[in-house]
Amino acid sequence: MMTVQLSSLITKRLLNNKLCLIVKLQLTAFDIGGLPSMRKVQKMQIISHQEIAPHIYELVLKGDLVKDRWQSGQFVHVKVSELNEPLLRRPLSICQIDQTLNQLTLIYRVEGSGTQLLATKKVNEEVDLLGPLGTGFDLSELQVEETVVLVGGGIGVPPMYELAQRLFERGNKVIAVLGFRSKADVFYEEAFKAYADVYIATMDGSYGFNGNVIEVMKSESLTFDWVFGCGPKVMLKAIDQQYGQIKKGYLSFEERMACGIGACYACVCELTNGKMARVCKEGPVFRLGEVMI
Ligand code: FES
Repeated sequence: MMTVQLSSLITKRLLNNKLCLIVKLQLTAFDIGGLPSMRKVQKMQIISHQEIAPHIYELVLKGDLVKDRWQSGQFVHVKVSELNEPLLRRPLSICQIDQTLNQLTLIYRVEGSGTQLLATKKVNEEVDLLGPLGTGFDLSELQVEETVVLVGGGIGVPPMYELAQRLFERGNKVIAVLGFRSKADVFYEEAFKAYADVYIATMDGSYGFNGNVIEVMKSESLTFDWVFGCGPKVMLKAIDQQYGQIKKGYLSFEERMACGIGACYACVCELTNGKMARVCKEGPVFRLGEVMI
């Protein structure tokens, strides 16, 4: 196991090409080093790849990586090009794991050169994945009779879908509150209905509830025991402020990442106990109230 000596603050400020090269070398060392974790690098074949909302793509991949033990809320690090540019992988959350079909579904938003490149990939091409990564949702404390509300905002919706399926299979009552900018941005509404009571909120009021996810939860007087959230920081902060003291729950955070395996400290966040944590390693899922938002 390699020793990591980069401080988080230095790393955050020096995320230039030179550092990226260091990160890549570290990653190689990890891959061939026989680490205790189960993460692997593997090429998976594209089964389908389509735009399901403006700039939102659904990518279905097939391969043996699916056979590993996965935890809802974990993510994969995707190599978007066979070339060295862009050098860094892109962290994408898991939308669905189907171990019967050996398939993994990722949903991502095209928002930079890396995801633009990924969007050009065609069926039958291969994609290089590193995973499973991170710490996901710990469901061990949930009682079967408890109700869970899943709150997803925008590109934070996909991991909630995987979680909805797991919770439904456990026997929990699941409520999904999904927030989007407008009607055109809504995706997976029908898919969620197989596992959850679904509420859609749009910021411009063009579909579903006119407002944000917290407003629809209050307006519908939803009752629940646990709240799980994934989405933009402003949404996570609102969940934390509204329910942090009165409900049990977890929040999944997005952060800029370089290595994705806890080696470079590019993704650190501050915890409410004063300590620091790596979003890619100790997260992306943290307990409600655990992270300074
Ligand atoms: Fe390198 Fe998290 S991205 S430690």
